Amino acid sequence: MCGIVGYVGKDNAKDVIVDGLKRLEYRGYDSAGIALIVDGELFTYKRQGKIRELEIELRRKPVYSNIGIGHTRWATHGKPDDINAHPHVDCSGKIALVHNGIIENYAELRRELLQKGHRFTSQTDTEVIVHLIEEELKNSSIFFKAFLRAVKKLHGSYALAVITLYQPDTIFVARKDSPLVIGLGDGENFVASDVPAFLSYTNRVIFLDDFELATVKSSGIFVFNFDGEEVEKKVVTIPWSLSQAEKAGYKHFMLKEINEQPRAVADTISGNLSWFREETELEGIDPFGFNRIQIVACGTSYHAGLIAKFYLENFVRIPVEVDYASEYRYRDPIVDEKTLVISITQSGETADTLAAMRLAKSKGARLLTVCNVIGSTATREADTVIYTYAGPEISVASTKAFTTQLTALFLFSLWIARERGTMKNEKIEGYLKHLLEVPSRIEAFLSLEREKGAVKQIALEFYRAKDALYLGRNVNYPIALEGALKLKEISYIHAEGYPAGEMKHGPIALIDEKVPVVFVATKGKVLDKVVSNIEEVKARKGRVIAVTNPGIKKVKELAEFIIEVPEVDEYLSPIVNVVPLQLFAYYIADFLGYDVDQPRNLAKSVTVE
Ligand code: F6R
Repeated sequence: MCGIVGYVGKDNAKDVIVDGLKRLEYRGYDSAGIALIVDGELFTYKRQGKIRELEIELRRKPVYSNIGIGHTRWATHGKPDDINAHPHVDCSGKIALVHNGIIENYAELRRELLQKGHRFTSQTDTEVIVHLIEEELKNSSIFFKAFLRAVKKLHGSYALAVITLYQPDTIFVARKDSPLVIGLGDGENFVASDVPAFLSYTNRVIFLDDFELATVKSSGIFVFNFDGEEVEKKVVTIPWSLSQAEKAGYKHFMLKEINEQPRAVADTISGNLSWFREETELEGIDPFGFNRIQIVACGTSYHAGLIAKFYLENFVRIPVEVDYASEYRYRDPIVDEKTLVISITQSGETADTLAAMRLAKSKGARLLTVCNVIGSTATREADTVIYTYAGPEISVASTKAFTTQLTALFLFSLWIARERGTMKNEKIEGYLKHLLEVPSRIEAFLSLEREKGAVKQIALEFYRAKDALYLGRNVNYPIALEGALKLKEISYIHAEGYPAGEMKHGPIALIDEKVPVVFVATKGKVLDKVVSNIEEVKARKGRVIAVTNPGIKKVKELAEFIIEVPEVDEYLSPIVNVVPLQLFAYYIADFLGYDVDQPRNLAKSVTVE
């Protein structure tokens, strides 16, 4: 999705902004631009393509400025080209604006503004905003007032940053349904759509809420509501370091993040142990206050939800429904004050997930969110927050967020089981012991992989495949879905995940001597069933790759390729079993020469519905 960066302070704004935009590259974009104020003049630079194109342009016409805004655009209205790239400028050339989100009433606003004589240069919805501010300035010479009046006329979602020659020391920002965060420096301040943009300068931040505006100067920040009243805001310290947001010698963020999983899972356990052990409270949640659970999430987080259903239904014996957040709202779900709605979201900014949460809340449900980003919208809107401690996830393809989500959801399920007395204490302690062993089991697999490269070898064999099938059962069926999602999103190879037992009802027709069929065949109550499914594929000359545990002879005899992962408790096996599938997708995409961290058409946080 689009990225915003703004800077006001003592340094060269251009350098700070370009650096920030690069750190937001992972969000996905197709053009980039920057606006700077230099000695009473407004300069804008915009380029289709990567930020390096913009840098070339900036080198051609160097300027020094202490204030500016920048943007990476992921096209929605109008094609990705230089003209549609942000910033957009008003007719007078005195106001420049960048925008994330979608303005739903832009067509009527544009019509009105055209009638009033404004000239438009782009096809974007964004451009109406800057002309609207210009128009509102006719009613008030105070820029903030004009900005506020314009913003109130917008329908849709927006994070906005504006600079103007009318007040050249200030960045004006506003937010509704699209994230915006202000970074607090010393004699300098930052604005961005995401914290990593300015993490090398500060980790002290203010999150803007919906229907808030702010004026950001080097000397201070003021936040207002849409009535123009000043609002007091909490300063949050983000416990992420810059090194966590850098590649640290790895070829790609995705590979780094896969390798970080032992640490991330261990941190997620220790970060949540205090409420699990009841040394602190898991605020906002009454373990007896609900008789039904609904889980809402998207993509990889949805797959974590499918596995959490096994945990909750088996440990707590409570009915659980799992919905794609984008579908939930439209199926008229049965929700009441006895419903606990769990949203799972790495970013905490996914528009579909937030909309599902809001619908559930409006019907009286309690909201719990499992989230990785401190201060994100989901964490502010939920009644209860369980954090994952994955650290910043930069690669578009989610890896460590997924395994830490499973870790947090496993702990939560055990906690509820204890509170409601549906599981004996010794059993809970036994599960906790198994969970504590998971980081070292993942590490054992990863270090063997670093040494021997078994997954890499198999990827080399299959990277030219056109299709792939992923099969698993029971608690590992969602791992088949996740393995398929990873492969298609970064390698563009068509892949399907299926419950292995369902294969004979249709997908078996796809099997021939070319299609790789990846089985998750680790120890558990369905292993024999999975083995029969492997036989079915073999009988049709399918090429079987099996993720399995050491010592499972029948799988070894049948599969053409074996990936061995250490054995863990069956319920915890998804956390370990997914790791080779992440690596398999990674190596295939890398062999194909694709941009692993920024796959085509995808964005890291999907802030539009
Ligand atoms: C896949 C992926 C996406 C996200 C989805 C939800 O690798 O990253 O499918 O999982 O967009 O994002 P969050 O968890 O931020 O709500």
